[in-house]
Amino acid sequence: MPDRLSRSTGLRPPWELLRELLPLRSSIAVRRFAGHAVHATQLERPLRIVHVTDLHVGRVTPMRVQFEAAALANAAKPDLIALTGDFVCHGQRYLDELREVLARFEGPVYATLGNHDHWSGSREIRQVLRKANIEVLDNAHTVVEIAGQKVQIVGVDDAYTGHADVKKAVRGLHHDLPAIALSHIAEEAESLWEHGVPLVLSGHTHAGQVTVAGLNEMIFGCVIGHRYVHGLYGTRQTGPPSGAVYVGAGIGAAVMPLRVGQRAKREVTIFELGLPPGSIDEEHGEQPGHAGRPPTARKQAQRAAKVVRNQQKRDQAAHRTRRK
Ligand SMILES: [Fe+2]
Repeated sequence: MPDRLSRSTGLRPPWELLRELLPLRSSIAVRRFAGHAVHATQLERPLRIVHVTDLHVGRVTPMRVQFEAAALANAAKPDLIALTGDFVCHGQRYLDELREVLARFEGPVYATLGNHDHWSGSREIRQVLRKANIEVLDNAHTVVEIAGQKVQIVGVDDAYTGHADVKKAVRGLHHDLPAIALSHIAEEAESLWEHGVPLVLSGHTHAGQVTVAGLNEMIFGCVIGHRYVHGLYGTRQTGPPSGAVYVGAGIGAAVMPLRVGQRAKREVTIFELGLPPGSIDEEHGEQPGHAGRPPTARKQAQRAAKVVRNQQKRDQAAHRTRRK
């Protein structure tokens, strides 16, 4: 879909040109959105944030796809790249491949972890990210200066495995500076909005991977109980504490590679912070969220216990290796 800039200048966006040059038809959608109205009042010039989530580097997702995602992110000429977790699938077997993929992103790059990272070993995955010059925000925030403009990046650790602490992440946040947040789990957004963060980028659902006939909304929204399944939710208008959250469709998968439906396509998302909502053509506007159903205490405990259990297995395996 041509945007206003393309129509007025006759130039095509760089990511569309790159896609034509790629040898195989792209399986990755590039979706573009304006930021929150508050950002338009805070920024003198727009900042371009590229969001990529759920790489799941491993056996299920071809490296060609991973490299294409990085190339599309770079082709957008971002001021900053945001990665919102699930870098691996079920273990540490593909950390070399992860290094190779991460090295392709042209920074600055900021990241938060997802549930698969905690289950696979958060210490080792953080190390890989940091060696790739990616700043991992574990319930913390940082101020980034881009071309003379400051923006705050808040990172919330994974809520699915019980590692999220929004209060800690926003402590000391400057309310006169623009802010966005990264959180693998989108449901953390409401708490972030209350603390003055108007736009949250997230992942985890992979858009449900099958979006035909609203199947993803039915399963992930109604059956599993997610409030937010894929795309933009909330509001980008100024007003009482409120905000928007974007759930990216992600790039990879941990179990099933199948993706069916336009909205299920792998995705690189561009956010133009500082451009008011409605000023550019967008894939869709804000959608109403589902009622949502938080996990029971028992379910939450099971997810957290899996992190501990997996770490014990890795420790035992390392101990056996040392004794040999
Ligand atoms: Fe994921």
